[in-house]
Amino acid sequence: MTVKYDIKNYPDEKGCFGQYGGCFLSSKMEREFKKLDDFYQRIRNDAEFINDLKYTRKHYQGRPTPITFARNLTKKCGGASIYLKREDLNHTGAHKLNHCVAYALVAKKIGKNKIIADTGAGQHGVAMAAAAAYFNMKCEIHMGEVDAKKEAPNVDRMRLMGTKVIIVKSGGGRFIDATNSSFAAYEKDLENSFYPIGSTIGPRPIPQMVRDFQSIIGQEALEQFLEITGGKTPNKVVAVVGGGSNAMGLFSGFVNNDDVELYAAKAQGCLESAKKNVENKHKKTVAFNKKVVMSEFTNVALVDENEDPTPVYSVASGLDYPYIGPEQVFLNEMGRVQFKGVSDEEAISAFYELSELEGIIPALESAHAVALAMKIAPNYPSQTILVNLSGRGDKDMDYVLSNFNRLKN
Ligand SMILES: Cc1ncc(COP(=O)(O)O)c(C=O)c1O
Repeated sequence: MTVKYDIKNYPDEKGCFGQYGGCFLSSKMEREFKKLDDFYQRIRNDAEFINDLKYTRKHYQGRPTPITFARNLTKKCGGASIYLKREDLNHTGAHKLNHCVAYALVAKKIGKNKIIADTGAGQHGVAMAAAAAYFNMKCEIHMGEVDAKKEAPNVDRMRLMGTKVIIVKSGGGRFIDATNSSFAAYEKDLENSFYPIGSTIGPRPIPQMVRDFQSIIGQEALEQFLEITGGKTPNKVVAVVGGGSNAMGLFSGFVNNDDVELYAAKAQGCLESAKKNVENKHKKTVAFNKKVVMSEFTNVALVDENEDPTPVYSVASGLDYPYIGPEQVFLNEMGRVQFKGVSDEEAISAFYELSELEGIIPALESAHAVALAMKIAPNYPSQTILVNLSGRGDKDMDYVLSNFNRLKN
């Protein structure tokens, strides 16, 4: 059978997905990433590495995570049956630990003893802090001031787990500023430190590494779904895309089967940007389709007239980013993944609906995927939709209840 996208053929030898991806850095940094790539290509099929990772996933992370049939949500939407892959049940509350434990294991094996990273919503930071503690490594996480205020419990969590948190005030104090700050810190300490990027984004080999590390979601989900439904695959698979890590994780189990439609929810922002009368450009991330060579890799980005990334806004900190990963861009371009916009308002409604109907409080990021499934479901009564519930919403509760309180009791 020929498939539209055979995942094992990507990335190519240059680290590209079609015309996207690759590695364009200063020669010093390019050498560092090449070293990591060579090491990773050797270790990814190494039995000891695979076994160590398997052990950690089972005995520390709490995998496998289950699939839950969202019975009441399905009834309310009145159409396709909606199932949830429960990445919110990972230790630390989100899918991010899937790549963080693997990164820490690679760092250990390559001989580094310090992690330097950045975080948006704080989920990647918390997961990295936990993995560093588990593997007895030093950890330094850079976080934008805006996100640190919004996701204050995650800052405390990281500190409790022994991580040094650097609050970044420069620029707009947002995720992109934290990224610039952490990369600069890493460049100063290449000898000892390891730089784990929190999504399927960045120079080669990061998009491949993160996809491989997250593919556990898709592997489990395929097996579990076949078991639940007596041998059927889902008709549609839905995930939210910030950089693309949870989506590539789930999609990797289904992308080679053209019968399964893949949907990506992309944050459109809206509520506050409308309130503040700020032009909302976020939804154009993909539609804009402007190919740019970023400082590190070729990508599609929301850029201004100088081809610099533009500020973006989403109610979900983890989606506040002007790029998506190169593999996602390629899959969108070839029509294998359909990107659909989800507004802040739709995500907030889904946050409340899932909490009330299923007793599951989703992360605001994950609420975007739930909202998209709720929009699609009524049109496909006899079908099934599998949604990646990428994280739990404890981190967002204070923010949502303070700003969008819709409690009925
Ligand atoms: C719970 C959750 N889901 C999704 C995302 C989006 O990231 P990605 O697209 O890499 O999965 C984030 C980012 O912080 C997150 O915290």
